[in-house]
Amino acid sequence: MTDTTSGDFARPGPRLDRVAVYPGTFDPLTNGHVDIILRGARLFDRIVVGVLRNPDKTPLFSVEERVAMAREVFAGEPKVEVAGFEGLLVDFARAHGAHVVVRGLRAVSDFEYEFQMALMNRRLVPQLETVFMMPAEAYTYISSRLIREVFALGGPIAGLVPKAVEARMRARRGR
Ligand code: PNS
Repeated sequence: MTDTTSGDFARPGPRLDRVAVYPGTFDPLTNGHVDIILRGARLFDRIVVGVLRNPDKTPLFSVEERVAMAREVFAGEPKVEVAGFEGLLVDFARAHGAHVVVRGLRAVSDFEYEFQMALMNRRLVPQLETVFMMPAEAYTYISSRLIREVFALGGPIAGLVPKAVEARMRARRGR
């Protein structure tokens, strides 16, 4: 039987940390993301938040700003690291010695896209495992896209994003 669970990405022995990556666009980081990251930090020795530099999209915040905000939010969490990345997620995971990709699932509607990505990543690197986690119910309707939309139309975003992110968004709007 072919063992697809061992190799560079598997955990070769008990001495090595269990490392996960949590990739995303995070434009902006929401309280739903924060919830998943903190849950991940309980399961893994380290969780590396990977902030995608996506040349196809024009983001609200640059990747440098998104990384800086996430670092500010998780400054008191030694298990959480934040790094920007471009290119393939599997390469980012390898560079950080991660054997798990964490993704949040809010609703059934997320599933199809997530399933495709997980299987594509598995095809690229069979030993890299994707783990889905559910945020607290209070965050199941929150998405970066809706937050950007509400913000752009002048609506309140307090409670949907961390305070540090809210402050930067307000500063961006000039109030
Ligand atoms: O927050 P998002 O936009 O849903 O995150 C999507 C992300 C960053 C996880 C995905 O676009 C990604 O992994 N991009 C990196 C490029 C890559 O590896 N593509 C193939 C993945 S199947």
